[in-house]
Formats: sequence, C-alpha cells, structure tokens
Amino acid sequence: MQDMSKYTKEDLWVWKTLFDRQVENIPGKASQAYIDALNHMSPVLNADEIPCFVHINRWFETETKWELKVVPGLIPVEEFFQLLAERKFCSSTWLRSKDSLDYLEEPDMFHDIFGHVPLLSNPVFSEFVYKFGKLGCQFIDDKDKLLQLQRLYWFTIEFGVIKEEDKIQSYGAGILSSFGETNQIHQQKANFLTYSIDEIIQKVFRTDIMQEDYYVISSFDILFESLKELSEVWSKEPSQV
Ligand SMILES: [Fe+2]
Repeated sequence: MQDMSKYTKEDLWVWKTLFDRQVENIPGKASQAYIDALNHMSPVLNADEIPCFVHINRWFETETKWELKVVPGLIPVEEFFQLLAERKFCSSTWLRSKDSLDYLEEPDMFHDIFGHVPLLSNPVFSEFVYKFGKLGCQFIDDKDKLLQLQRLYWFTIEFGVIKEEDKIQSYGAGILSSFGETNQIHQQKANFLTYSIDEIIQKVFRTDIMQEDYYVISSFDILFESLKELSEVWSKEPSQV
C-alpha cells in the first residue's frame, strides 16, 4: 500500500522539480504519443501533487484498465511477467532525495510513474505491454526465453526510441525519466540502430551507465509484430527449462 501521509514537503519539492523540469525539457525530444498521454493523465498525474495510486487506479478503470501495484523493490522476474499479464504494473513509492535528483541506483517513483505510466494509457502501447506479459507467462519456466524478453523490455519499454516525422523521439521510461539521458540522445552521443528483434534478444545490456545503443522503431506496430514473431518461433521449439 502507498501511505500518502508519509510524504514530506521535501518529497513534494523533489516531485515537482523533476516533473516541471522534464515537462519543459521533452518537447521535440519525447514521442508525441507520450506527450499526449501525459497531458491526458494530468488530472491524476501532475507536478502539483505526489501521485496517489488509488486515484490513478480509479482513473485507469475507465481507460486501459491498468492497476498500479506497490512492490518492495526488485521482484522475481516470473512474478513481474505474471503481474503484467494481469495489467498490473509494479511501482515503487519512494522518491529520490533532493541531493541526488540525477543519480539513481534503482528506480524510484519518478521513474516508475512519470516514465512508465503515461503510455499505459495509450491503447496501442498498453496492449503491447499486456501481451508482452502474456508471452512471458507462456514461457514462464524457460529462463533463457525470459532473459530474451527482458532484453526486449530493456530496449523498448525502458530505452526505446521512435522515428516520428523524420525525428528520433524517445518513448522509453528510462530515457524520459532522466533529464540527462533525454538530452544525451539529442546531442549526437548515441548510436541509433535499426530495430531488429533477433539482435535485441541476444544483446547484453548494462544498467549502470547511460545507454549507447538505441533501437529505432517506426511505429508501435512493430512491437506487436516482434511478439508475434517470437511467439510463433518459440512455440515450434522444444522448451529449454
Ligand atoms: Fe523502468
């Protein structure tokens, strides 16, 4: 459960500072779908109040039916897939301190909520995340396939970019919740690679540095095609438990 009474004035200051700074930063850098979704959610997701999970969950009831689930930290990957397949998205409830606005060892509420939640209200993207969870559940005992799916998650839901009107725009939560990484991408310090599901599921990623390689999609449809492709190929393979 999220205990709203525990948040301090400093928490609100941190939330508002991060929110306002990033809203000002992302035009022309974030996917239009993300910006539209963030605006759409403004009644329950804005700079002026700490996000209340009860309100957000109520809001989702008449939208894409997602539900925020409070988790104590990292959870087993199997559980994570199972929750996604029930349209439950894990979020932490703590916020970084004001002395470390840009440094984070593990995801806090700004990452989870500002980064991930808006696009869950986008019907197409929401369906992708749900189907992603479903596919994971289908192969829940196959560690190798779950690892491949984790890589897909990393290079799309966390660090995905999309080409919109000839411009690279971010939609990944890891980018959009980071002021530094949002800007790094637009300072020609990144490698933009052609989206390839075969490459992504084999690609080892690092969590302790800003990313160097980003896979560019042309529309969210390609994400669905990837899931379909994986599902078809994997269903024909003998399972490696
Ligand atoms: Fe994340």
